[in-house]
Amino acid sequence: MRILAIESSCDETAAAVVEDGRRALSNAVASQIEAHKIYGGVVPEIASRMHAEAICAVVREALEAAGVSLREIDAVAATAAPGLVGALLVGLNYAKGLAYANGKPLVAVHHLRAHAAANYLNSELAPPYLCLIVSGGHTHIVEVLDYTTFRVVGRTRDDAAGEALDKTARLLGLPYPGGPHLDHLGRGGNPNAYKFPRPKVPGNPYDFSFSGLKTAAMNQLRSLNPESSLSNPDFAASFQFAVADYLCRNFLCAAADLGYQTLALAGGVCANSVLRAEMKARCEKLGLTLHVPGLAYCGDNAAMVAAQAYYEFRAGHIAGLGCNAAPSLSIEETP
Ligand code: KG4
Ligand code: ZN
Repeated sequence: MRILAIESSCDETAAAVVEDGRRALSNAVASQIEAHKIYGGVVPEIASRMHAEAICAVVREALEAAGVSLREIDAVAATAAPGLVGALLVGLNYAKGLAYANGKPLVAVHHLRAHAAANYLNSELAPPYLCLIVSGGHTHIVEVLDYTTFRVVGRTRDDAAGEALDKTARLLGLPYPGGPHLDHLGRGGNPNAYKFPRPKVPGNPYDFSFSGLKTAAMNQLRSLNPESSLSNPDFAASFQFAVADYLCRNFLCAAADLGYQTLALAGGVCANSVLRAEMKARCEKLGLTLHVPGLAYCGDNAAMVAAQAYYEFRAGHIAGLGCNAAPSLSIEETP
């Protein structure tokens, strides 16, 4: 089964064709980063408008790269939740138009479910497994009970891990989005040069608070002279180590308590080299199997949306043409 999927929840306009949820035939992405850079973050209205400008060309590129026509597509999918509402509506409504005009079923996909499904594109991973989803907007520890049944066991109470990395990178004078630049700067830096807390959150041992970590970074940077705070590799390495260690601790604690041997990482932040290395080393030591998406499938892309759409379709989750974007739907709910 071939699914054409569209992703437009934030600042990437993406389209892809994936076969049977596992084999990506194409994965086209048009990034808006340059347009948002001068504002230091994503400007929602600019994002919506740029999706509208890019979407026709990106979908055409995905079909051409896959070598298939619309007639050879079995279903059309789009991210319907969560995300910026104006941005989501562009991709969802474009998918609706394609589905209607070509007589194909429409599948509405949850963005975080899709991030987890990125793992299906380069491994044999199958539920049940425990997944750590770390992106710019979300930090979740999720039980993937079957392909379309999810249970959140831990989450951030405030900032997402990606937000904390981006904001700290900004304090170090790095451009938006800071995560990849911080990763680059920290290579060769000393991860033990600066100390950061691992905030405990009352009520749930698997929950996170990244705003506390971010404030600790801000306070330490204030005590340094401006020259040593800008582009400081030791600070970049230490902060990333703190974030990775905090994520590993709560995730592996949840895995032990809930009895999971199969684990997966997902989301833009799992492209981070420190997080990947730390999680891999600790899982090896504990004899746990860890799945990590290929770098092309960590950040926002449409191949992951098509992968999840395949399993939603098989579960009978076909969207009507009246389906709407939901900017803040839980991963436990099907859009
Ligand atoms: O999943 P994603 O592409 O978009 C959302 O759904 O939010 O995640 C974007 C986040 C940003 O915070 C970005 O800085 C971060 O992922 N990111 C990284 C790296 N690559 C992307 N953070 C740390 N190291 C990286 N290599
Ligand atoms: Zn994302």
